Amino acid sequence: MNQSSFAPIVRDYPHFLHGGDYNPEQWMATPEVWDEDFRLLKEAHCNTLTVGVFSWAALEPEEGRFTFDWLDTIFQKALDNEVRIILATPTAARPAWLAAKYPEVLRVDSQRRRQLWGGRHNHCLTSPIYRQKADIINTLLAQRYGQHPMTSVWHVNNEYNGECHCPLCQNAFRVWLQTRYNNDLDALNRAYWAGFWSHTYTNWEQIESPSPIGERQVHGLNLDWKRFTTDQTIAFFRAESKPLREITPDIPITTNYIGGYAGLDYYKIARELDVVSWDSYPDYHDREDSWRSAIFVSFLHAQRRAMLGKPFLLMECSPGVQNYKPFCKLKRPGLHLTECLQSVAGGADSILYFQWRKSLGSVEKFHGAVVDHYATSETRVFAEVAELGRVLESLNDVVGSTHRAQVGIIYDYENRWAIEDSAGPRNKDKAYAEVCTEHYRPFWQAGVSCDIISEDHSFDNYKLLIAPMLYMVRPGVAERIEQFVKNGGTFITTFLSGLTNETDLCFQNGFPGPLRELTGVWAEEIDALYDDESVPVEANPDNGYGLSGTYQAKTYCDLLHAESAQVLATYGAQFYAGKPALTVNNVGAGRAFYMASRNDTRFTTDFYTHLIDELGLRRALGVALPEGVTADVRFAGDREFIFLLNFRREAQTVELGAQSYTDRISGQPISGTTILPAYGSMVLEPQP
Ligand code: GLA
Ligand code: ZN
Repeated sequence: MNQSSFAPIVRDYPHFLHGGDYNPEQWMATPEVWDEDFRLLKEAHCNTLTVGVFSWAALEPEEGRFTFDWLDTIFQKALDNEVRIILATPTAARPAWLAAKYPEVLRVDSQRRRQLWGGRHNHCLTSPIYRQKADIINTLLAQRYGQHPMTSVWHVNNEYNGECHCPLCQNAFRVWLQTRYNNDLDALNRAYWAGFWSHTYTNWEQIESPSPIGERQVHGLNLDWKRFTTDQTIAFFRAESKPLREITPDIPITTNYIGGYAGLDYYKIARELDVVSWDSYPDYHDREDSWRSAIFVSFLHAQRRAMLGKPFLLMECSPGVQNYKPFCKLKRPGLHLTECLQSVAGGADSILYFQWRKSLGSVEKFHGAVVDHYATSETRVFAEVAELGRVLESLNDVVGSTHRAQVGIIYDYENRWAIEDSAGPRNKDKAYAEVCTEHYRPFWQAGVSCDIISEDHSFDNYKLLIAPMLYMVRPGVAERIEQFVKNGGTFITTFLSGLTNETDLCFQNGFPGPLRELTGVWAEEIDALYDDESVPVEANPDNGYGLSGTYQAKTYCDLLHAESAQVLATYGAQFYAGKPALTVNNVGAGRAFYMASRNDTRFTTDFYTHLIDELGLRRALGVALPEGVTADVRFAGDREFIFLLNFRREAQTVELGAQSYTDRISGQPISGTTILPAYGSMVLEPQP
């Protein structure tokens, strides 16, 4: 992670990939459209096309009969026009013949209903036939195009998601459980607390995946099923990737992640990838508060890049409208550049779209595209895409540059699954992702880089480690946090932490369980607040951490006993008035804070701004930023690229401090005060 910069993702191609999903197979009857596409690509300053994502029926119209001629033509045109190809395996949707002949490839839902053929992203994760058919087509693709000079990245499947409950998957689940529990059914029963409601298994065959018509309240089982689904997705991914790895060992492999989707453990899948990629569809449009949604998008960028500690691919975003939102807002002028530079700021080395050209029919015909139904370069969307393309072409030296985050925030999928499954302490809106984002917001606002990480990630590089709602503490994690603190780290955890172990069984040594000694508190009870309720939190006048006056707590209030910890703030009402709301415990060379409640924005701002300054955490611009404006910095050796982004619908004035910069978009020197237009952005490089 301390590497000074990385080689470009596509070997010998130090450029941002700019382009996107292309479906030439939808235009077989009018191949002149293909020529038009390649002409327009140049005009749009695009250099990359993703092909094949849903092309199986066009590549194998009947079992064993392959039709690559059209794709050959596209590859030839790509070569002629120097357009890079991201080649997808076509397995995210399947031809009708495949489902008709081999119904086992069709997914079975949790109610045990086998789905009809149709849709996409809905194949069985276990079916040997599906894997075999995928292997055949993937092998042929790799053999035919693997050596092609334009083949740049493998895009395996598309947005893996969901789960399959078919008999094949049930068997695979039982085998997976036997491995996990060393063939010891008693161990599984203990892990699932099976004495409850007579849920003891006496035979492995009795185990079924969770179902609304069967078992769904055994938390350990639910967790294992989700873990299995991730592992089975990985198994499928490995099977699909095998011929690609063998035939084209030098071509990087990715699969594209879905925004905030939490059905799979993306950290675990990332370990299988050469490069992480994801699809980002933010909603920034024209409400006073819309800018706030930019915080979670930056959070996801910070997570994607931290997964492998290097730049990732932004595999999809919309050049214009997204047609599945309740209100399909048009992108406001300027927003496209800012949304895309936000991705680059977060670590993306590409801006790729869904989609290059609008289809004439079916469900995505009104989804934004670079090329509209009336295929002209004269549209507003096309002009903004071309403008972004020109900007990206001027930023080649940013490709491969890195972040140096000093803050790690734990956002862990298994933890999330356990929190969401838990009955109590509050069942409406557990708000795990929201709370993690609330702890990230002050850093976003200050322009301080964070890594969003799992419990398993190394903590060594951070000065500050934040673990909101660390409900499930897996073995070894508390010990690693303790080591981090003893070595001088600052650790913060919150309400609803240290409750259960990796099978979701409660700790018995007083919450926060394995973090009790480190934090120096015992959390005896947790109060859940109504949505319209809040409890005052009074800062001790001499707290020393930037807090002052009265704050408001909402959603959750832990009732703490400070043991070895020092109390910095207390509740100001309820029967727990006077009890600790914020504590700190000095351990070794570091300290551990316990934040007992979900606090208002002023609290997190005051507290974290104090820590940012006290720890000397690097602010991208070295100065404070107006609300709704953020900045992030990418490093390449001694060089720095600072991305300044305004998500507000009004212009914002930014004080640049004493440093002079080059504005990399205009090429002009800039210093003093600058005005960012509504939804405007800048890329600044400090002048020596
Ligand atoms: C997803 C899919 C694309 C397309 C877009 C529409 O990201 O991967 O195929 O359906 O959504 O926004
Ligand atoms: Zn299945």
